[in-house]
Amino acid sequence: MDKKIDQIKKEIKSFHIKTYNDLEAFRIKFLGKKKGMLIVLFKEFKKISIYKRKIYGKIINELKKEAQNKINVFHLKNDIKNEKLLKVDPTIPGQSIEIGGRHPLSIIKNRIIDIFIKIGFTYVDGPEIEDDWHNFTALNIPIFHPSRDMQDTFFLCKNPDVLLRTHTSSVQIRYMKKHIPPFRVLSTGKVYRNETISSRSNFMFHQAEGFYIDKKVSFSDLKQTIHYLITSLFGEAKIRFRPSYFPFTEPSAEVDIYCNSEWVEIMGCGMIDPQVLKNVNIDSEIYSGFAFGLGIERLALIIYKIKDIRIYFDNDIRFLKQFKSEF
Ligand code: DAH
Repeated sequence: MDKKIDQIKKEIKSFHIKTYNDLEAFRIKFLGKKKGMLIVLFKEFKKISIYKRKIYGKIINELKKEAQNKINVFHLKNDIKNEKLLKVDPTIPGQSIEIGGRHPLSIIKNRIIDIFIKIGFTYVDGPEIEDDWHNFTALNIPIFHPSRDMQDTFFLCKNPDVLLRTHTSSVQIRYMKKHIPPFRVLSTGKVYRNETISSRSNFMFHQAEGFYIDKKVSFSDLKQTIHYLITSLFGEAKIRFRPSYFPFTEPSAEVDIYCNSEWVEIMGCGMIDPQVLKNVNIDSEIYSGFAFGLGIERLALIIYKIKDIRIYFDNDIRFLKQFKSEF
């Protein structure tokens, strides 16, 4: 066996392959499926003892590799000269692949996240399918509140109520229940309301929600944070806080921005109602906090001067192509 192996090894080494015919002869001689020398060797190998098979198996496999290698090297050196390949012009530039861009809503969303990360907010996600408690009850939204109405909310089932969240404020409850203050949190995502589709409304839209709880958080912290957000997004802009009502904040306000000679409402905000803190076992004698929620579509309309929100969801490449961003 040893002798035979040495012999084949020598023959593989000394075989001169100059043409494709030589190559075929080489292949048949050593690797041919019926009478190739290595196949014959394999057949003999089956007769030897199991103990020796391990050693010889390795050696024969290596011989096979050597023979295959010789074939590969020939191909590498010669195929480029082959006529068929010469017809290919390797100097022609490759076909470029069109890389997609970010959706305008994602760009604005990412900008908002970036703005808040810079001032120490943590980013979290929340589920789009919610139960009544997180979406309404814990947020101090009473049973008779209109937003609970079948006409506004998409219920997946009743008793127990499971629904598509109508706002991202439910994330406040989920986070506050699990964490001990202080914390500053931002969340974004889709929300759903049973509204007719028009240039200004859709049954699904995106919100960004922020909240901050610590000792001695005051309304002026809220104002300053909103001011920071607006100037980061718009540069200098005129805004106003208008008194408003939300069940989960007290006092509450809506923020308007002055653009195109009119005031446009962009968000709701306020100091988190002590009852909400109580619902998630946070002591309102020690802690206070603010919260805000804004519609991303609405903000993007202003930033990009878009008139109709339906265009966000048309998937028209001519529209989407216009947005370039580092975010
Ligand atoms: N959840 C409200 C909505 O969907 C927006 C909102 C208002 C969120 C005031 C807040 C807030 O966090 O404090 O209309």
